[in-house]
Amino acid sequence: MAASTTITFALIACTLCFMSGTSLARLTPNFYSKTCPQVFEAVGSVVRAAVSRERRMGASLLRLHFHDCFVNGCDASILLDDTPTFRGEKTAAPNNNSARGFDVIDMIKSNVERVCPGVVSCADILAITAFKSVVAVSITEYILVLFTILFSMFNSEQVNQPVSSF
Ligand SMILES: *[C@@H]1O[C@H](CO)[C@@H](O)[C@H](O)[C@H]1NC(C)=O
Repeated sequence: MAASTTITFALIACTLCFMSGTSLARLTPNFYSKTCPQVFEAVGSVVRAAVSRERRMGASLLRLHFHDCFVNGCDASILLDDTPTFRGEKTAAPNNNSARGFDVIDMIKSNVERVCPGVVSCADILAITAFKSVVAVSITEYILVLFTILFSMFNSEQVNQPVSSF
């Protein structure tokens, strides 16, 4: 009894070690450095073109990744189309007519498949797209917005206003 309990604990400990080792190995920006070193540029070039056509697309692509991760992790399941026997996340109430940028993801997927066929997962395409979207919109833009908000907070007239009740 005691021996089998010890063995069970040892097995669980080994499994946990193995799982944490596996997930650490997966969560690295260098994951495709040998199998598809061009992946970041293959994604980035399409993202930059899309953001230069419509600036809002940067935020939409970042949001698409968030909405994918929201349901059972970042597995790209938000990209699945409905079939007669399957209803996915794409048309679920919070996403229907709200999540956007699927056409851009299709272009990114085609571009990535052109340079590295069958290598990069759709989940990783969504993650790299979110990263490249933030870069494309430019971090300096967020800093400027932050300063604008700060300066509006330092306005002495607003300091004397009563606090809003929301
Ligand atoms: C999603 O939106 C479309 C277009 O407005 C609508 O026809 C469809 O019924 C909606 N699907 C769901 C599952 O709500």
